[in-house]
Amino acid sequence: MRTPIIAGNWKMNLTIAEAIELVDGIHYGLPFPGEVDIIVAPPFLCLQKVAEHLQESYIGVAAQNLHVEDQGAFTGECSGKQIKDAGADYVIVGHSERRQYVAETDEIVNKKLKAALRNGLTPIMCVGEILEEREKGQVASVIGRQLTVGLLELTPEQVSGIIIAYEPVWAIGTGKTAKSDQVEDAHRLIRFSLSMKFGGQVGGSVRILYGGSVKPDNSGELLALPNVDGALVGGASLKASDFIEIIKSME
Ligand code: PGA
Repeated sequence: MRTPIIAGNWKMNLTIAEAIELVDGIHYGLPFPGEVDIIVAPPFLCLQKVAEHLQESYIGVAAQNLHVEDQGAFTGECSGKQIKDAGADYVIVGHSERRQYVAETDEIVNKKLKAALRNGLTPIMCVGEILEEREKGQVASVIGRQLTVGLLELTPEQVSGIIIAYEPVWAIGTGKTAKSDQVEDAHRLIRFSLSMKFGGQVGGSVRILYGGSVKPDNSGELLALPNVDGALVGGASLKASDFIEIIKSME
């Protein structure tokens, strides 16, 4: 049994006051979410405040990134150790915006996954192809490479604790959602690849989220797919009522 997850990636949005207002809105609008894990990923500057505010709540907190090292002379960075200390339990690793804008490679993703695990954080590892790769029929090889290099030297036990998010880059923030068969195919492929590398037990138990323009009007169909265990939501996670509707569409 894989408990579903709805995670909100706030990206570089919201002040501290707005962040608190949003989580309060989620809480009061949905006091009993049922059998689903809810996570929000605030920017670093409001992470601690949000984590403190949510201490007694069912909402978990994720950072959006971490450094590969635990401390040192890395100006402007935050480590897994500091993120854990600030009260988060999860961290997004390898989001496509980081791969795209700050040249984060699969090798860096691998180091960051290790840093997260070493500090007791559950990674949400993002994978997904760009449009050109899809058009060239390279979806399987791209995802295969991201998983092979990204998960290098991790044990089956470690991988079983990771959350994967399949986010086709062309569907992120564009309003273009992948079609149900494209999503299910990619998720099945990820599960198969994990089973081949780490065993059927791991392949069957890892939770795989879909991300890319998930909205209340398409979440029901996407979340009903057999290999989709939830969603990583960007834009629609910034409005409590939309986020709640997405959570409710799991039922
Ligand atoms: P979006 O972002 O829902 O705004 O497309 C998803 C993500 O980047 O995680």
